[in-house]
Amino acid sequence: MRTRPLKVALLGCGVVGSEVARIMTTHADDLAQRIGAPIELAGVAVRRPSRVREGIDPALVTTDATALVKRGDIDVVVEVIGGIEPARTLITTAFEHGASVVSANKALLAQDGAALHAAAEQHDKDLYYEAAVAGAIPLIRPLRESLAGDKVNRVLGIVNGTTNFILDKMDSTGAGYQEALDEATALGYAEADPTADVEGFDAAAKAAILAGIAFHSRVRLDDVYREGMTEVTASDFASAKNMGCTIKLLAICERAGDGGSVTARVHPAMIPLTHPLASVRGAYNAVFVESDASGQLMFYGPGAGGAPTASAVLGDLVAVCRNRLSGATGPGESAYAALPVSPMGDVVTRYHISLDVADKPGVLAQVATVFAEHGVSIDTVRQQGKDGEASLVVVTHRASDASLSGTVEALRKLDTVRGVASIMRVEGE
Ligand SMILES: NC(=O)c1ccc[n+]([C@@H]2O[C@H](COP(=O)([O-])OP(=O)(O)OC[C@H]3O[C@@H](n4cnc5c(N)ncnc54)[C@H](OP(=O)(O)O)[C@@H]3O)[C@@H](O)[C@H]2O)c1
Repeated sequence: MRTRPLKVALLGCGVVGSEVARIMTTHADDLAQRIGAPIELAGVAVRRPSRVREGIDPALVTTDATALVKRGDIDVVVEVIGGIEPARTLITTAFEHGASVVSANKALLAQDGAALHAAAEQHDKDLYYEAAVAGAIPLIRPLRESLAGDKVNRVLGIVNGTTNFILDKMDSTGAGYQEALDEATALGYAEADPTADVEGFDAAAKAAILAGIAFHSRVRLDDVYREGMTEVTASDFASAKNMGCTIKLLAICERAGDGGSVTARVHPAMIPLTHPLASVRGAYNAVFVESDASGQLMFYGPGAGGAPTASAVLGDLVAVCRNRLSGATGPGESAYAALPVSPMGDVVTRYHISLDVADKPGVLAQVATVFAEHGVSIDTVRQQGKDGEASLVVVTHRASDASLSGTVEALRKLDTVRGVASIMRVEGE
């Protein structure tokens, strides 16, 4: 074993970074054996240097992250600051000054992954980011390496623990969205500003990363269709239950049409209770991968939290250190397929539509005609009437999102349709 240590610079020492430092210290001997050389924490960049950081030598702490990555003797930079800047500049500076990089930064990877991969390649360095998607769950490396000989057709996942906690609460207790969000906040599952989670931005960043890796193509954050879950109601859950379904916020990446393009989207959807993703409870994450040869695979586990996320960071750190010792680099970006990303209108799936209609003869026929005119075939219809008003629940066969949008637009124009109470996609069948 080499005795000269590999030097690691830690950028950020918050929820994830502090756990990375702790595991590096407490498992130092094992990590050295697994890598073939000891690793040394050479510096820790933070924003507030006076903060007490247990287990960290204060002499290592600096607010000058740029100087740390420019030192020239750093082997690996671990970026766990988050956000776009200064993380992006620090990572590219690290490559320029001879270091490889491990990052947990989904927002940055989803936005600028291509440029960062290019910078890594230009300097012959590694860029690893297992922790950026679904915390502790091994997903990037299985897609990038274990499934490199297979053809992935679909990735369907629950990749945001906060929203899964909220939806699970609504499902199991009958609570409304706000009540479930308040509980998630009180228990520390939701941040004070939950927008990134509940509006689907966090999941969309992960979908972009997953789609790019799964389909060997470049998929940017802007390519991902996104709908949050703030409009999901207790009555949507009641409808879902009637159909033997529950509701999850899903990230769905799939090959479209004849396989010549891909789609990536995040939205709430009904899934059958028999689907493995339906039983993912609380703040857990799970990702279902369908590919030609392997069939269906499911990856399940804690998708966030300091220690689980640090586990993924440490796995990358060991891999990058091993590469470093052997003078090699691991797999970089694989975007050779260059598949275009199709718009949401091309996505084909099933729909559950709930309409408020006048309770009088002929309404059902009028509604059915609108569906037929737009080429959307109806699977089931359920009607409940009361005091001259009625609700009509229509479940369709598979149709394109564009056809469904046209149908809904036309339905809204019917005198007998008082309103479209909800539209929810039905997935996983
Ligand atoms: N938390 C999770 O469960 C989780 C899960 C998966 C991925 N991630 C990703 O991991 C990354 C870190 O998340 P986190 O939850 O650990 O964040 P965090 O608790 O807010 O920690 C951020 C750290 O970065 C430091 N920092 C902020 N701005 C800085 C600057 N300009 N220069 C140097 N240091 C700076 C902060 O310093 P101070 O300590 O002085 O404030 C803090 O130590 C993010 O990309 C996040 O998306 C997090």
